[in-house]
Amino acid sequence: MYSQVCFLVFLWMFVLVILSGAPAQSGDSSFSKPMDNVTVRQGDNAVLKCITDTKVSRVAWLNRTTILFAGQEKWSLDPRVVLLNDTPVTEYSIRIRNVDVHDEGPYVCSILTNRKPKSSRVHLIVQVPARIVNISKDMTVNEGSNVKLVCLATGRPEPSITWRRRLMRGNKFLSEGEYIDITAITKEQSGIYECTSSNDISTPDMRTVHITVNYPPSILSARATGATRGQQGALQCEASAIPGAEFQWYREGRRILSGLNGAKIENMGKKSRLVFFNVSEEHYGNYTCVATNVMGNTNASMILHGPDAVHDVSGACLTKHSSLCLLWTAAFLLAAPF
Ligand SMILES: *[C@@H]1O[C@H](CO)[C@@H](O)[C@H](O)[C@H]1NC(C)=O
Ligand SMILES: *[C@@H]1O[C@H](CO)[C@@H](O)[C@H](O)[C@H]1NC(C)=O
Ligand SMILES: *[C@@H]1O[C@H](CO)[C@@H](O)[C@H](O)[C@H]1NC(C)=O
Ligand SMILES: *[C@@H]1O[C@H](CO)[C@@H](O)[C@H](O)[C@H]1NC(C)=O
Ligand SMILES: *[C@@H]1O[C@H](CO)[C@@H](O)[C@H](O)[C@H]1NC(C)=O
Ligand SMILES: *[C@@H]1O[C@H](CO)[C@@H](O)[C@H](O)[C@H]1NC(C)=O
Repeated sequence: MYSQVCFLVFLWMFVLVILSGAPAQSGDSSFSKPMDNVTVRQGDNAVLKCITDTKVSRVAWLNRTTILFAGQEKWSLDPRVVLLNDTPVTEYSIRIRNVDVHDEGPYVCSILTNRKPKSSRVHLIVQVPARIVNISKDMTVNEGSNVKLVCLATGRPEPSITWRRRLMRGNKFLSEGEYIDITAITKEQSGIYECTSSNDISTPDMRTVHITVNYPPSILSARATGATRGQQGALQCEASAIPGAEFQWYREGRRILSGLNGAKIENMGKKSRLVFFNVSEEHYGNYTCVATNVMGNTNASMILHGPDAVHDVSGACLTKHSSLCLLWTAAFLLAAPF
């Protein structure tokens, strides 16, 4: 009983001396070598070694100022901390299982020699792989709007964050850091944005954000094909738009409905076809296809005419290209029989 009380007094002395930072005094025993800092990954086990040059009678381990072990007696309530037994008598090492971030810090091994304490300090450094914890959700925005993307990551040491854009061939570096601002986004800037977080502890973490950019329709092509009387004829209009365009067909201002007057409208993705199953004279004329989505609309006109007129009707009369339209009209007038 007396010896235990005595030991506690000694321990308290250790603590006071350690905290006051008193220099270690020369005595009977000493540490065989200074301890190196210990670096472990979160979740791994850490062994903190304390090796003395001779057997010492009084020895303790502290986590900051808390006693973990005093001799063979465990003071810590943490089941992850154990004293390593199968070691030489001059070694007094501990193991911490499943190390976590809060275990990081200074640990002290104290020995009492000649009634004077000596201590050896080791820093436990806990590494955590980089991990992305929050990233902007996939989004749909209108052309011209400003976009801010965020990518938050954790890890020890602090991970670096890189934004890239995925392109057909490889990736394009955009910026370093958690945030990326895109002002007045264009339709060409739609696509996949990649956030990579790394701190060299493990393979980098990568996540993506898909940005869809809405834009009004633009007509890619508008043309009429074969319009021989008694045969099938068709007009075709193709538009690029996000969201995909809805098509309507007009002839001289009047809406054409599918199924009426031998005409049928077939829509397939970006294309719309106005089909005449049995072309007759009355079908010849100037048609307009109108492509519409939430962002706006555009139109293009084309002529359905007999085979006695111009054969190559690929020169569509796009309202956006009035010079092309004029050229085409001129060609049409020249070629047309008077
Ligand atoms: C151990 O880590 C501490 C705190 O990070 C640092 O101040 C000290 O220089 C390190 N010692 C060695 C030997 O690496
Ligand atoms: C060390 O001390 C810190 C702070 O008190 C505590 O959170 C942590 O669990 C302790 N670790 C061990 C292994 O005792
Ligand atoms: C992620 O970030 C967004 C925006 O900053 C925030 O609203 C959300 O709560 C965060 N989610 C998590 C899981 O942290
Ligand atoms: C096409 O229309 C003409 C005149 O309206 C008619 O005589 C002919 O039989 C029709 N052809 C077909 C394949 O329906
Ligand atoms: C066809 O109609 C459109 C729209 O009404 C008009 O702009 C265009 O000039 C017309 N084309 C021809 C060749 O008459
Ligand atoms: C075609 O586009 C022109 C110019 O934007 C517009 O004035 C016209 O009303 C449109 N025609 C139709 C049928 O929508």
